[in-house]
Amino acid sequence: MRAYAIKFLALISVSSVFLLSGCERPPMDSVQHGYRGTGMVEIYNPRTVAALADNNVVPVALPQAPTDGPRAGQVYKNVQVLGGLSAAQFTRLMVSMTSWVAPNEGCVYCHNPVNFAEDSKYTKVVARKMIQMNQHINTDWSSHVSTTGVTCYTCHRGNNIPQQIWFKRDDTPMGSDFMGGKAGQNEPAQSVGLSSLPNDPFTPFLLGSKDIRVNGVTALPSGNKHSTKQAEWTYGLMTHMATSLGVNCTYCHNTRSFSSWEDSPPQRATAWYGIRLARDLNLKYMEPLKSTFPANRLGETGDVAKVYCATCHQGVYKPLNGAKMAQDYPELQTYHSSQPDATKVTPVKISDTKADIKVSKR
Ligand code: HEC
Ligand code: HEC
Ligand code: HEC
Ligand code: HEC
Repeated sequence: MRAYAIKFLALISVSSVFLLSGCERPPMDSVQHGYRGTGMVEIYNPRTVAALADNNVVPVALPQAPTDGPRAGQVYKNVQVLGGLSAAQFTRLMVSMTSWVAPNEGCVYCHNPVNFAEDSKYTKVVARKMIQMNQHINTDWSSHVSTTGVTCYTCHRGNNIPQQIWFKRDDTPMGSDFMGGKAGQNEPAQSVGLSSLPNDPFTPFLLGSKDIRVNGVTALPSGNKHSTKQAEWTYGLMTHMATSLGVNCTYCHNTRSFSSWEDSPPQRATAWYGIRLARDLNLKYMEPLKSTFPANRLGETGDVAKVYCATCHQGVYKPLNGAKMAQDYPELQTYHSSQPDATKVTPVKISDTKADIKVSKR
């Protein structure tokens, strides 16, 4: 009898090794994030935090360029959004942008070296809208980015394509549609922390503006639109938010009541603006670029790449660990042309042979 018990215990301890091998090994760091006894504690894995350090080193800034002298709009032929900068600042930004977005390709990633004024490469047309987007974030979204702001590097980190982007998922049922759509469930995706939650909670919330709710506000189903599907989307988005920021749910919620704003830490309000910010960027800047991108840059349903929390945050609760990198780039802090509105700028095609063609200055 005793021998059986010992064998049984041995079996349990061996199998628990396999069961627990999916867990993160101790020691963990815990940081108090609210009143004592309220369970408001953040658990950090110090090894994960250390691994993220390299990704958050800010590149050295070029020396500031003089703001006086001729304007870029006067010196060059086809400057639609940076015309108000001094020519020196303009060049400083071109060189910085190259190191942030195309360090291996150089200027030719966006330019035809024979004629820099030409808009023949799609990357240049995209970059122009990116400059506007960047200025828009720093100018109009201080409710989220504060004075920390962003540069191209915040999202790109030396890559042509930011490492963290999302596309709409193809939700057409495989084979027969007898069972209906799965709503992207049970297909563990990185975007939702490898859970079985719907893997695209972004289309409804970061493109559409569906209510991010679980708790119904009325007793009866009539008029209570807080469906199970909406709850699952909400948890999918929340899982993305927590993993993108490298935090637990208690960074923004008191688990006593997830919906109560009175009980929530202030970070939840910042996150609320973050949701609106991502939605705004996707609708105003990314979606309109759809016809500009070549087919190989589009997603499986033919949509354009989009922004979510991870695009900027990349695993930490303040991108680049809160480094105020954007302050070194006055070129990206405010609008530098009389035409800040993205929707009004139209790409100009200038052929090599007609390099001196007149382009209206704005
Ligand atoms: C990521 C894309 C990108 C890279 C890389 C890039 N540029 Fe540009 N460049 C642009 C955009 C966009 C404009 C137009 C800006 C505007 O409309 O306000 C521009 C405009 C210019 C112009 C003005 C041409 C004219 O006559 O209208 C010059 C000159 C220029 N860039 C030089 C450079 C140099 C030199 C490099 C490399 C050090 C470089 N650029 C790298 C995107 C880029
Ligand atoms: C908020 C995040 C964000 C910021 C800030 C940002 N970008 Fe982007 N960028 C994106 C996303 C998302 C894409 C789409 C990815 C793709 O090309 O499929 C993109 C694509 C691009 C592309 C096209 C690359 C390609 O090969 O298809 C260029 C060029 C570019 N960005 C330049 C810039 C420049 C220059 C800046 C700074 C003025 C900048 N970006 C700032 C998110 C950002
Ligand atoms: C970075 C901050 C942040 C983190 C982390 C976060 N949430 Fe949220 N949560 C919010 C915000 C903001 C809202 C409200 C969104 C809105 O109204 O647009 C919300 C809403 C919710 C709601 C809906 C409440 C209602 O009124 O019905 C639930 C439930 C929820 N979160 C659960 C979670 C869970 C579970 C986690 C951890 C996996 C989590 N949250 C992590 C910020 C956060
Ligand atoms: C365009 C880039 C960008 C995007 C997209 C973005 N954030 Fe942020 N976020 C920032 C920057 C920059 C800061 C730092 C602001 C500061 O220094 O106070 C920040 C700060 C925060 C903070 C405050 C952290 C603290 O401890 O004070 C929270 C919470 C947050 N973001 C949540 C989110 C969530 C959730 C999303 C997605 C729904 C999101 N962010 C999308 C750039 C971004």
